[in-house]
Amino acid sequence: MNGYQTLAYDIIAHEMSRPTIFKDESRLFPDHVPMNLVHRDPQLKSLSRIFKVLLESPGSVAQKVTLVGDVGVGKTAVAKRFGSTMESIAKGRGTDLRYVHVNCYKDRTLFLVVKKVAQQILPSIPDRGFSAQELFESLWKILEEENIYLLLALDEADFLLSVAGEKDAPLYFLSRVADEYINKPQRLSLILITRNLEFLSDLNKSVQSSLLHNVIRFERYTSEQIYDIIRVRGFEALKEGTLGEEVLAMIADISSPQGDARYALELLWRAGKYADAEAAARVLPEHVRKAQLDVSQFPMHIVIELPLHERLFLLSVAKVLKRNRSAYVTMGEVESTYRLLCETNKIEPRKHTQSWEYLQTLKNLGILYTKISGAGFRGKTTLIGLLNLSIEAVEKGLSKLEG
Ligand SMILES: Nc1ncnc2c1ncn2[C@@H]1O[C@H](COP(=O)(O)OP(=O)(O)OP(=O)(O)O)[C@@H](O)[C@H]1O
Ligand SMILES: [Mg+2]
Repeated sequence: MNGYQTLAYDIIAHEMSRPTIFKDESRLFPDHVPMNLVHRDPQLKSLSRIFKVLLESPGSVAQKVTLVGDVGVGKTAVAKRFGSTMESIAKGRGTDLRYVHVNCYKDRTLFLVVKKVAQQILPSIPDRGFSAQELFESLWKILEEENIYLLLALDEADFLLSVAGEKDAPLYFLSRVADEYINKPQRLSLILITRNLEFLSDLNKSVQSSLLHNVIRFERYTSEQIYDIIRVRGFEALKEGTLGEEVLAMIADISSPQGDARYALELLWRAGKYADAEAAARVLPEHVRKAQLDVSQFPMHIVIELPLHERLFLLSVAKVLKRNRSAYVTMGEVESTYRLLCETNKIEPRKHTQSWEYLQTLKNLGILYTKISGAGFRGKTTLIGLLNLSIEAVEKGLSKLEG
C-alpha cells in the first residue's frame, strides 16, 4: 500500500466509525414502503371495497381504478402496500393473485409494460422477436394454465406512449383486453396512478369512462398530517432522543404548503446528515435550515441585494435564532437585536411600524415565514422562522454589514 491508499483508508474508516444519530436511515428513503400509512385509511378502504370481488369470486370481473393526487401525497406507497397485502390475503384463501407495479416513466410503451409483467410472472418467457400483442398473448396463456390473476398498477400512467407499429394505444389495449377473452375468467385488473386526469381526455370515450368509473383522490397533506408521518418514520429511522417536537413541527410547517410527504422526509434525512456531520447529539433547527437550503437552491443574490434595513432585519432574525438555538423567534426579540445592530453600525434605526413591513417583504420573497404561537406562549404571538436559508448562509451573505 502506498501512502495515499493508507490515507484514504484512514479517512474512510474514520468516517465509517463515527457515531451517528441514525438507527436505520433507509426508513426515510423515498422508495421505502412503510407498513403504516397514516392518514390514508379512506384510500385504503376504498381500494379494498373495489377489489374485494377479486378475492370473493376471482375471475368474475376485471376491476379498474384510478388514483389521482399531487406530488408526494402517497399514491405510490398506498398502491404498493395495498398490492402486497392483497397478494398475501389472496394466498391465504388459495388464490394466486400477483401484484405488479410498473412505473411508466421508465417503461413507456405497451411492449415494455408487458415485458415487465412477463418478467415477474415467468422470468423465462422469451421477449425477443415478439410484438407487444404477441408477448401479451403468451403471458395470458400462462395466466390461464397456472390459474394466476393479475393486479397491475400503472404508475405515472401519463407517460405511456403509443408507438408506431403498436396497433392500439397502451391504455386502450390493457383496459379492453378482457373483451377479447369473453366467457373466460377475467385475469387482469388495473390500478392507474396519475397526478392529474387530463391526459385521459385524449383517450377513446369507452376507455375513459371505464377508467373514471372508480376514482380515488389523494388530497395534499396538511401540516398536522405531515407532522404525524415524519414522526412515525423519524422514530423508526433515528435513535431515541435525537428528534424533538420542535424540529418535527418546523419540518411539517415548511412542507405544508405543498403537502408533500416526500419533501418532508428528505428534509428530515438531510437534517439528520447535517447533525451527523457536526457530531451533534440531536437534530437542531439549523440542521433543518441547511437541509432546506440544499433542497431548494435559494438564489442568494436576492439576500445580498436587499435594501439596508431589510438586510439588518433579516440578520437580526438570524442572530436571535442562533442565540436561542430555536426554530422561531418573536418580533420583540428581533427588534431589540435590530436596534443593537443599527447602533454598532452607526445607522439610525427605523420605527417599530416599519418592522412589520420588512417582515412582509421578506415573507413575500420566501425568506421568512410566520405562524401564530401555540402552547408555551402567553396569548397569541407572531413567531418568525427562516425559510429556504440557514443562519450560516444569511450571516455569510450579509457579513459585510458587520464591522
Ligand atoms: N401516509 C404516509 N405515511 C408514511 N409515509 C408516507 C405517507 N404518504 C407518503 N409517504 C411517503 O412519502 C414519500 C412520497 O410518497 P409517494 O411516493 O407514495 O408519493 P406519490 O403520491 O406517489 O408522489 P408522485 O406523484 O411524486 O409519485 C414516500 O417515501 C412515501 O413512503
Ligand atoms: Mg408516485
